[in-house]
Amino acid sequence: MKIIVAEKISDKGMEVLQASGAQVDLKLKIPREELLEIIPAYDAIVVRSATKIDEEFFAHATSVKVVGRAGNGVDNIDMTAATKHGVIVVNTPDANSVSAAEHTIGLMLASSRKSPQANMAMKNRIWDRSPFTGTELYRKTVGIVGLGRIGALVATRLQAFDMKVIAYDPYIADSRFEKFGVEKKETLAELMQEADFLTVHTPKTKETLGMIGKEQFALAKKGLHIVNCARGGIVDEEALAWAAAEGIVTAGGIDVLKDEPATTSPLFDLEHIILTPHIGADTVEAQDNVGVSIAHEVLSALRGEVVPNA
Ligand code: NAD
Ligand code: MLT
Repeated sequence: MKIIVAEKISDKGMEVLQASGAQVDLKLKIPREELLEIIPAYDAIVVRSATKIDEEFFAHATSVKVVGRAGNGVDNIDMTAATKHGVIVVNTPDANSVSAAEHTIGLMLASSRKSPQANMAMKNRIWDRSPFTGTELYRKTVGIVGLGRIGALVATRLQAFDMKVIAYDPYIADSRFEKFGVEKKETLAELMQEADFLTVHTPKTKETLGMIGKEQFALAKKGLHIVNCARGGIVDEEALAWAAAEGIVTAGGIDVLKDEPATTSPLFDLEHIILTPHIGADTVEAQDNVGVSIAHEVLSALRGEVVPNA
């Protein structure tokens, strides 16, 4: 068996793959053309979110039987094309949820207290408290879009801050809202009108792309704080820039951008919006979980065994 690992996974994950006796080739940041050239020799590929696994890829990947997505979102993988080519796609949907939830809350706190901006000033040897008056989370209302794995983890953690948690998710049973003590909103518009803080936790789909746009921001209270630690483009970047210019959004933390890796976006110029380079899952714990899980899943799938996250 030949497995190509095209994006970094943890050493523990690599060890599991290597212990199987398969030939494991680590080829990080390999140019697309080179990947397409060498892929016919491989039985499986392991990627994170940067590698586009599309029809063109499958047309070249004539021996690939398994695609391992070391992480959660599969929006970089054309699932219809995978099915058409008879390729199994496996991922690790739970392995990094806690890290993503913690980063969400970290972004919420850091942007509300302007901590990164204060740090920058300090590093420039400027001691001045006046620009950094922040906002408490205490007794504010946080609106969660998508009460799935990460949304629910964020909800329960923010309840410890004494926040009122409301959520919009039309695809889950009422019992899930009840289980997590979250008030259900029937429409996104209602959520937008009531939230002091907004955080999105949906997958990236045709329906969610741009779902927080100008129309939604126009409904929000002035002074909204926003976090996107889900997928770039769910919060429309132009619309967010507009909302910031209008004073509707006054703080925010954005981990994911529409076109990654990103060096251009209207968000780069917004003083009160802090940015991180898609590091929601980048903790030692999450990467060990993800690496080991994906390694076992890819090997099981190659051996024709039952795989939980296929
Ligand atoms: P999940 O599938 O467990 O939950 C998603 C929830 O969104 C579901 O409850 C679903 O019903 C809801 N939803 C779907 N479409 C919706 C819509 N149109 N309106 C409202 N709700 C909708 O997913 P998860 O594991 O919680 O992951 C959430 C997001 O976080 C995904 O986009 C995932 O890729 C991303 N993620 C990012 C990082 C990171 O590094 N930043 C890490 C892990 C996951
Ligand atoms: C995920 O979907 O798992 C995260 O965005 C992290 C990653 O892409 O590795």
